[in-house]
Amino acid sequence: MNILLFGASGTAGGAVLQACLDAPVVYEVRTIVRRPLGRTNAKLWEIVHSDFLHYAQVAEAFRGVDACLFCLGISVTQVSKEEFVKISHDYPVAAAKMLQAESPGAAFHYISGAGTRAESTTFWAKVKGETENELMKLTGAVCWRPAFIDAEPSATIPKIYAALRPVLRLLKPFRSLYVAGEDLGRAMLQATKENLRRRVIENAEIRELAGRFGK
Ligand SMILES: NC(=O)c1ccc[n+]([C@@H]2O[C@H](COP(=O)([O-])OP(=O)(O)OC[C@H]3O[C@@H](n4cnc5c(N)ncnc54)[C@H](OP(=O)(O)O)[C@@H]3O)[C@@H](O)[C@H]2O)c1
Repeated sequence: MNILLFGASGTAGGAVLQACLDAPVVYEVRTIVRRPLGRTNAKLWEIVHSDFLHYAQVAEAFRGVDACLFCLGISVTQVSKEEFVKISHDYPVAAAKMLQAESPGAAFHYISGAGTRAESTTFWAKVKGETENELMKLTGAVCWRPAFIDAEPSATIPKIYAALRPVLRLLKPFRSLYVAGEDLGRAMLQATKENLRRRVIENAEIRELAGRFGK
């Protein structure tokens, strides 16, 4: 498989990247990032890019891809509402359209998060829910709703997350509340293998898919 990954410098994306690099089924991982990740790997092709609304300059990265794993995102507490919509909706929709143009058969995977609902009265949940619906209609996207993702906290994640991580890890036995970061990546690869499309996947099913993929 050739994988295109967004958000590789992040908490979720970093763990998903590691799962892809470790998986024999993955031949190449292309990452579109704002800044170099500072790591090398024979499978890794890093593309530094600044405009996440337009991808014509990096169209080559979208060609011959089996799946795009869109792990780029931000907490609503870190940006204005306008910026949140741009990052959570406009960026993935632009990437999904480019993927459809350059790799029409590829799967698009979008991380939203537990609690996402288009009908919600909570701003972030509604924005992400509407984005899920649009992406499923547009490209048959698979939408991931993880609860707590246990992974190395990035430099950008809200500080409270890093502080609470030891406590949140106690949630591990609860299948609907906890997922190991690399298991999220393995689940995305398994969903690609199983050719899942137009689906919302909640936390417990993420763990089931990761279990089917194996270590
Ligand atoms: N962490 C969790 O437990 C969890 C659980 C459920 C859902 N989620 C969702 O998963 C997504 C990723 O979360 P995370 O925890 O991995 O966050 P994170 O650690 O802050 O990582 C965010 C990623 O998105 C990129 N990014 C953010 N704003 C950007 C922008 N304006 N332009 C380009 N790239 C940008 C960052 O790149 P830079 O390094 O260049 O800033 C980084 O790669 C979010 O939507 C989050 O709500 C996370």
